[in-house]
Amino acid sequence: MEDRKLRELLDDMTLEEKVDQLVQLNGSFFGKADVLTGPDAKFHMKEGRPLRTGSVLGEHGAARLKALQEKMTAAQPHHIPALFMADVIHGYKTAFPVPIALGSSFNPALAERVSAAAAREAAAAGLHVTFSPMADLVHDSRWGRCMESTGEDPWLNARMAEAMVRGFQGDDIALKGRLASCVKHFAAYGAVQAGRDYNVTELSEHTLFEDYLVSYRAAVKAGVRLVMTAFNTIDRRPCTTSRRLLRDILRDDMGFEGVVISDYSAIEETISHGTSLDHRDAARQAMEAGCDIDMMSPCYLHHVEDLIREGVLPESLLDEAVLRVLQLKNDLGLFENPCKDASEEDEQALHFCEAHQALSREAAEETTVLLKNEGILPLSEGQKIVVAGSLAEDPGMTGSWAVFADTSRTVTLRMALEELYPDADLSFFASDDISDVLLAEAAKADAVILALGENQKKTGESMSLSMIELPDNQKRLFDAVHAVNPHTVTVLFGGRPLAVPGIAEKTEALVEAWLPGSCGCYALADILFGRVNPSGRLSMSLPWCTGQLPISYAAFQTGRPKPAANGFVPFTSNYMDVPNTPLYPFGYGLSYGRCVYSPVELDTDTLTKGGSIRASITVTNEGSIPLREAVQLYIRDLHASVVRPVRQLKGVNKVTLAPGETQVVTFVIEEPMLRFYDADMHFVSEPGRFTVWVGHDSLTDNSADFTLE
Ligand code: NOJ
Repeated sequence: MEDRKLRELLDDMTLEEKVDQLVQLNGSFFGKADVLTGPDAKFHMKEGRPLRTGSVLGEHGAARLKALQEKMTAAQPHHIPALFMADVIHGYKTAFPVPIALGSSFNPALAERVSAAAAREAAAAGLHVTFSPMADLVHDSRWGRCMESTGEDPWLNARMAEAMVRGFQGDDIALKGRLASCVKHFAAYGAVQAGRDYNVTELSEHTLFEDYLVSYRAAVKAGVRLVMTAFNTIDRRPCTTSRRLLRDILRDDMGFEGVVISDYSAIEETISHGTSLDHRDAARQAMEAGCDIDMMSPCYLHHVEDLIREGVLPESLLDEAVLRVLQLKNDLGLFENPCKDASEEDEQALHFCEAHQALSREAAEETTVLLKNEGILPLSEGQKIVVAGSLAEDPGMTGSWAVFADTSRTVTLRMALEELYPDADLSFFASDDISDVLLAEAAKADAVILALGENQKKTGESMSLSMIELPDNQKRLFDAVHAVNPHTVTVLFGGRPLAVPGIAEKTEALVEAWLPGSCGCYALADILFGRVNPSGRLSMSLPWCTGQLPISYAAFQTGRPKPAANGFVPFTSNYMDVPNTPLYPFGYGLSYGRCVYSPVELDTDTLTKGGSIRASITVTNEGSIPLREAVQLYIRDLHASVVRPVRQLKGVNKVTLAPGETQVVTFVIEEPMLRFYDADMHFVSEPGRFTVWVGHDSLTDNSADFTLE
């Protein structure tokens, strides 16, 4: 439909019809197949009204959505099609590694391919919009939703968010296999206090703008079509009713023109926050703030019409929101083709297809992080290997936000090892309990793999922890096995960095496998046996203990920095009982073989505004197997009008090196990369000295200095 016709359509709609476009209900309102059930009690909806609402949450499947769309377009007085939205965060039927793992690939192009595959599967199932990417920066692994984030770094999160948006949307959301993407949760949900889900956030203006808003801004710049509000408060205002956040920052500053949707019942929840008196007040505030769609709360449904009739809200406010929803429907091509790509044949062809299984495996090859290896890895098939721990046979490897994943087909670690290494002498004890027979077998083994951590039920929304240490039974299991055989390989599963200091010290190898998705355990098995060289790098620092949280490599220097001495130094900024730095920092990860970096070289040591510096290194694979190396660029502003982080990631270049191969990797440094918010919140760079590091991880000391004039 031509855009100008949308305006005519809008002008022809009644107030009730307009409000309905802003109401999103879940499937419980529609019953199954073509049988419609009565409306949910709390919503007091007239029979038939659910069918006239503008969008549906969480329903899926080509046959189901085609039937539902037919009923909804027939019921809507102007035959406006409904939007079908759902959480397809890291896969639809095929689950890919969870986002915290995708962050660890340090490879945005991979995240783009994964998102495109998820979009193809979901579009065939009749979906139009995915609630992804989740671009919330996070420094606190008590928060169960770390799993959905790509990690602790603004630069990396921004690259991942824009890559995912491109992957879902492509160049044109109307095209086959594409979805409209919804970035969430706006804003700074990852900063919930003490890592407790749904809690408030307390952030300085600088932290909000310089760290937390960066990834959403990148998604907006990449053309994301929707933004979801966050449950938390910012500046003591719930995000969902924050005019400053949704209008001043999102629309005016970031230039976002798409649809804003609340999180699930978040408009109604402003009553619990104590900032809205009742549903009517909540509806008024959310409309004024610029929240277009009310997801699963009765506020808009019951009150927006009256607020307009009584002159409390201008009708133009409603029109503006409805027009944005109609525009999205039009851009998806739904007026011509209401079911878009819904197709049972395509579902058959695409869901869990071989290509997507292969991509799930390939992705996990790059998301698995080797943290320690004293030479025990890779294992060989001639060895006697014992595998212990319940997670070795746990199908909960897909992560909780591939909600529709076909978990019956998830490959466990045991399945992968048995299938790929049939000649290996493997025995499995898939339990966290210690048994005499396990210990007897472990004592005789060449190596014991311990599968520890969390399955998908332990991470995700609302799964906050006060302690991120492993459960006692897993620690006891490790200690008992280690006492009879020190040759242990510990594999950590989970959606957050867990604290494993005792184990990390004793185990001969430590692997962060995250939740690797439907077929990711194949990749893990191949890494354990050396068919694949690990190349993942931590997207979040792995702390020593809960007490270090929140933690980030990009910390600020204090007035009393701890001197570079071992142990506690009184009257400096440090702990008596643990170091300041994490056990393994952001960007860290090992490979097999040897990778050698030359000193970093700058082509000039003076940068002018409008000019550039080329920072180069050579990187050589001195090992005997191919290597993927995520070369990282960090910069520090040594003196500025406000404190600056001790280093900040500014670039990544993931290169593949054949054995013996050398490559030159060059990063271009330009003045805009050095900007920050000064005391008056102006985004500026300041002349002076900078240090640049190019190396393997955030600990690299391969540095050179330059001056910005
Ligand atoms: C609540 C979650 O916070 C959000 O991420 C999700 O998209 C919605 N529910 C819809 O399922």
